[in-house]
Amino acid sequence: MKIEELDTPVLTVNAAALERNIERMERMTSAAGISYRPHAKTHKSAKVAKMQIDAGAIGVCCAKLAEAEVLANEGVDNILITTPVVGESKISRLMAARNMAKIIVVADNVDNINMLGGMTQLAGIEQDVLIEVDIGQGRCGVEPGIEAARLAQIIAGHKSLKFAGLQGYQGKIQMTVDAAEREHQNEASIRKLSGTVAEVEKARLEVGILTGGGTGTLPFDIKRGLLTEVQTGSYVFMDARYNSIGWPGANAPPFELALHILTAVVSKPSPDRAIIDAGLKAVSNDHGVPLVAGIDGCVFEFGGDEHGILRMEDGSEVPLDLGDKLSLIPSHCDTTINLFDQYIVLKGNTVVDVWPVDARGRVQ
Ligand SMILES: Cc1ncc(COP(=O)(O)O)c(C=O)c1O
Repeated sequence: MKIEELDTPVLTVNAAALERNIERMERMTSAAGISYRPHAKTHKSAKVAKMQIDAGAIGVCCAKLAEAEVLANEGVDNILITTPVVGESKISRLMAARNMAKIIVVADNVDNINMLGGMTQLAGIEQDVLIEVDIGQGRCGVEPGIEAARLAQIIAGHKSLKFAGLQGYQGKIQMTVDAAEREHQNEASIRKLSGTVAEVEKARLEVGILTGGGTGTLPFDIKRGLLTEVQTGSYVFMDARYNSIGWPGANAPPFELALHILTAVVSKPSPDRAIIDAGLKAVSNDHGVPLVAGIDGCVFEFGGDEHGILRMEDGSEVPLDLGDKLSLIPSHCDTTINLFDQYIVLKGNTVVDVWPVDARGRVQ
């Protein structure tokens, strides 16, 4: 099948660009002697996770237990869940999922650690736990320093728990446009993590894993060398927002745009306005509007749940007719992917495969 024959809107993947992104991550990290555990919250796909692991990733991250359950069931066997797993019901599910995969969890709370310790001991399971440290995001995580050391000791005091290291992720700085400023911000966060490592080591505990980092801070995390592994997610497909930020040495982004929404013109009420079949249900808006690929000066505006409105910046006629197809570049890959059941995989203009978005909507 050719791309022109597809019904729209659909999520398309440029297979060659995806493969190059995966290879580049492997090359960049292996040259620096650092591991990578890509975040599967971006793609929610067992197929893509396995491609990353086959290329050299040590496993994947999942944001939620439900994402991990789906990927483990599809044979992804090494997973870090980067959000605390809290409460009896979820810890029971975690223990069931452990029959399918090695799963590491994060924690930032004594009660949660004690419940994990109690339930895993009863079940005869040994569970690896990382302490999440808040290195500036103001989301989950203990304050850097002695609090992490205290929790690490509590973990180590449980027979069934193993203190495995620290997680520190600073999401707020990943898209700082100026590369030098981003590096500066990253250094401030990394210092909080290195100070915490020192406190934990004073308590005579070993920090085996130091995990964090995203696509935006990757060049600096690699250069800095504190993290033992990076959790980059978006690099695999990229998006308009990540593509627009500065990269070190004024270089182009190290990764290529590999994800598009194929959409079609369903109405052209006037020459200066074309209406397409992709609105809020086909492309996310949390990072702004998508870009229109291949038509210079053509801009997108949301026209509601089901429609997008295209205009030319200079007010001239939109060079599209009813039924014409075009591609949008999503502004945010993660939230756009979660709107679709499947990826249509392209080599050039030919459809070569269809992959399910296995963990779509799995937010529990
Ligand atoms: C904990 C954590 N680690 C890593 C990432 C991956 O970041 P990015 O998609 O910017 O590479 C995210 C993304 O939200 C995250 O929440």
